Amino acid sequence: QRSIPRHFSCPGTVAANFGSEEQPLGSAETGSEDKIPKKRFSEVQKERREQAQRTVLIHCPNNINEKKFLKYLSQHGPINKHFFYESFGFYAVVEFCQKDSVNSLQSEAHTPNKSTESAIPFKSRFLNLKLKNLSNQIPEQLSAQTNNQSPPSSKKLFELLNYAESIDDQLYTLLKTFQLTEENVRLRHLTCSLIEDIAAAYFPGCVIRPFGSSVNTFGKLGCDLDMFLDLDEIGKPNVHKVIIISFARCISSTSLHVRNAGNFLMEFQMKNVPSERIATQKILSVIGECLDNFGPGCVGVQKILNARCPLVRFSHQASGFQCDLTTNNSIALKSSELLYIYGSLDARVRALVFSVRCWARAHSLTSSIPGAWITNFSLTMMVIFFLQRRSPPILPTLDSLKSLADAEDRCILDGNNCTFIRDLYKIKPSGNTETLELLLKEFFEYFGNFAFNKNSINIRQGREQNKPDSSPLYIQNPFETSLNISKNVSQSQLQKFVELARDSAWILEQEDKGQPSPSSKQPWGLAALLLPPGAASPSLSKKKKKPMAEKVKGLLAAIKSNSADISKGSRGK
Ligand code: GTP
Ligand code: MG
Repeated sequence: QRSIPRHFSCPGTVAANFGSEEQPLGSAETGSEDKIPKKRFSEVQKERREQAQRTVLIHCPNNINEKKFLKYLSQHGPINKHFFYESFGFYAVVEFCQKDSVNSLQSEAHTPNKSTESAIPFKSRFLNLKLKNLSNQIPEQLSAQTNNQSPPSSKKLFELLNYAESIDDQLYTLLKTFQLTEENVRLRHLTCSLIEDIAAAYFPGCVIRPFGSSVNTFGKLGCDLDMFLDLDEIGKPNVHKVIIISFARCISSTSLHVRNAGNFLMEFQMKNVPSERIATQKILSVIGECLDNFGPGCVGVQKILNARCPLVRFSHQASGFQCDLTTNNSIALKSSELLYIYGSLDARVRALVFSVRCWARAHSLTSSIPGAWITNFSLTMMVIFFLQRRSPPILPTLDSLKSLADAEDRCILDGNNCTFIRDLYKIKPSGNTETLELLLKEFFEYFGNFAFNKNSINIRQGREQNKPDSSPLYIQNPFETSLNISKNVSQSQLQKFVELARDSAWILEQEDKGQPSPSSKQPWGLAALLLPPGAASPSLSKKKKKPMAEKVKGLLAAIKSNSADISKGSRGK
């Protein structure tokens, strides 16, 4: 039997819901980082994956009785965690203590018997629970409580922000309200694990790994689920199995070496295609077909194979996630690890990134449709860069993280050096004590006046550099350093960003001067910044007109005195 990881206190009886004293796995993932030791990214991912493999997703009747449900399931073995949620149906996520319990449950499950439709037999871990006798269930029992997987409405958010005590408090409130919950993180890893089962029908031994905002600590409830098919594990010789076989045959373990010794080397016969891109397209094409034809709950499958980075996009209906599946994307996973480190180093980082991302979304600077818009990934890089530029810096440069790295951290991917220290405890905390309010205002000031026409943003060195080409916005890819991650951004989108940043800096500056008060009914602070254009309160619209008047006044004064720098004056800052 598998041993149970030490952090699981599997009591042998039906476990309680969340909120127990037990520590969640990825403290930094869900923001409860203050008291809990920070784990390495790879450790968190490994544990989450293992946890997901012991978990099943069950579509249940709405009026399910929780106690009876758990009693029924625990026939297959002790349950570690469970929760219910609604997403066009009522679902339960049930994590057993042992993987064998899942096998036991699956062996008891039936394939549906439908008279009009034909089911394609596929024994997944996504199950359907039916009541044998309806009359037994309904009356006296309370049905199970559900856990919310969606972000709050704008109305609710504005209420929460208006009740906050300060702008700092507003930023943390926004973070707490929007960050991925423990349950949502589990559901994301479970979804990847379920997709892995389907992909494994073609590629036994493959791994589906989540990346992007689902794992990098910057995920917002409702964000997409980025995952990639990792076939590298298949290529590695299965040393573990070889050892077992060797022992079973009572052959000395040196036979392992004997197999590779001498003049022989065994390889698999494989089909060859002209390029890696074609291989990727072929693999994604069959996986897309598989998901479309046999994947329980996978709908709206689109194969986007001619994109720069070919992908399969689909909805996983039961979890409600929009999924983007690519293949071997280890550099993107490394970027996720780097962002995880930055997000875990200082509590202000995630609060600031969330606010800037929400601000950009509220003003349509970002969009779910690909185009000339700035992306959340680029915005995150801008915040990191800004925090590296503070005095003293709040975040270290990527080069300094590289210089702290040990031999075991060394990582070269596709010829790119992706080495950086992975142990969070080896990075010295910042001595900077600036408030979030100040940082947000300064962020807008900084980028409202940044020389985008001349300079590029570079988190590797933490300083501006001359732009190597004429793209309006140039943010150096941290690992593939000759690439610009914001190449798609148009001049007009950049201009819009700059103008909104200046306006927002101005609004925050007025707040500094004491108006309006936190108790006022008018949106204030962060809430005022998140109001979509045109929805500003009368006081805000009035305020918005002022900077133009001030700009004109400044210009006139500059012309009169004939000495001031007009271009600087016209910025009104
Ligand atoms: P959300 O908007 O919350 O989904 O943020 P995200 O970080 O998940 O962004 P997205 O889904 O667009 O992309 C997923 C991941 O792909 C990112 O976290 C990056 O690691 C990587 N990525 C996205 N865009 C680029 C890009 O332009 N260049 C490179 N090199 N990587 C990118
Ligand atoms: Mg994403």
